[in-house]
Amino acid sequence: MWCIWTSGRLSNAGSAHGQARARSEVSTRLMTPKIAVSARGGTISWGVAVKKLRDSHITETPYWTHDAVAAGKAQGSPISKLFGWVNGAVLARLGLQLVRRRTPKRIEQTSFALGDTISLRNQALSAFLSTYFKKYDIAFDSTAAEAWIQEFDAVLKRSPISDLNGGMGYNNGLISYVLCRTLAPEAVIESGVWRGFTTYLLDAGTPKTARILCYDINFDLLEFKSSKATYFEKDVLENSDVDHSDFDFALFDDHVSHYDRLLFADANKVKNLIMDDDVSVLQAHADGWPPVPSTSMVFDYEAIPHQFEWVINGSNARADIRDLDVTSIVQNYIRIPYPELFDFTGYHNTSVTSLVQRREGADGA
Ligand SMILES: C[S@@+](CC[C@H](N)C(=O)[O-])C[C@H]1O[C@@H](n2cnc3c(N)ncnc32)[C@H](O)[C@@H]1O
Repeated sequence: MWCIWTSGRLSNAGSAHGQARARSEVSTRLMTPKIAVSARGGTISWGVAVKKLRDSHITETPYWTHDAVAAGKAQGSPISKLFGWVNGAVLARLGLQLVRRRTPKRIEQTSFALGDTISLRNQALSAFLSTYFKKYDIAFDSTAAEAWIQEFDAVLKRSPISDLNGGMGYNNGLISYVLCRTLAPEAVIESGVWRGFTTYLLDAGTPKTARILCYDINFDLLEFKSSKATYFEKDVLENSDVDHSDFDFALFDDHVSHYDRLLFADANKVKNLIMDDDVSVLQAHADGWPPVPSTSMVFDYEAIPHQFEWVINGSNARADIRDLDVTSIVQNYIRIPYPELFDFTGYHNTSVTSLVQRREGADGA
């Protein structure tokens, strides 16, 4: 059995390719192909009607339906067709493009599974996460995790953040939420708040009595404020008035050197750290402002080059991480990389994230 799967944007009537033809869209009902090979069980059916939406580069199927396509909305509005024509026939030659301004949404805000599929997914996901973290002695049972995952989806649906771009994505948000629920931290430090999405998750996932210290060097974009939180528009290291020593949880998503954050956490004996953007030497080029030396680099320090270079958006960047003293960090903490959840959620992890946990017995802790 075989099948050919073609995918295309539903509304790309404005693409240069589509417009170059400068024809009105014709939905053609054809009696072709003469032989349709079914994806189900290899049945061969003859003369299946196939509706082709030529300008959208898609062919309809009898196996599923799409409301926008059924309503004829896949062909694009006259305005988007006009934009497309201008882009394709005029501006493309000048290297320019008209782009519609709209708030870009993340895939998890616009596309998700429904109904029984979600229950199936949650069962599999909770079993997977429970087994994964058990290997690192973080024990929670999968029934509890299933309820937390459902809770996370409900929390996400109510999110007051207008745009999740630039923030922690679905998969890492979900894992962080599950960790919050199982570790139930009472004192939390967050550094790197942005619009407040991770604060929102921390607010929802921690006990009612928890307190959070939120640090960012610029709160201009802030959309969510937690009643559990105190806000500081400065670097955590600049806040010497506050004693950070009794904190059991921290989330660092500020793109500041993880090495410095780990030294800070170690000095204050912070127990659990979520380190976002934990890129390895091989991944540093994929992060706009990587927190070099990252946690991965600290824990892999002996095995990696201490001087390395990369190119980011056409600019050269180079790192020199010689002479770090990682001994205490590596002795006192264990690094637990977040697993990739694509197989369960259909979304890729949008960043590399790790949980760093203080070892039992470190400094008599
Ligand atoms: C990737 S965003 C944080 C996203 C947020 N955690 C979320 O998931 O929604 C990085 C944030 O770090 C902040 N930042 C940069 N340098 C910082 C520093 N030294 N201390 C605290 N925050 C900093 C930036 O202003 C920005 O808001």
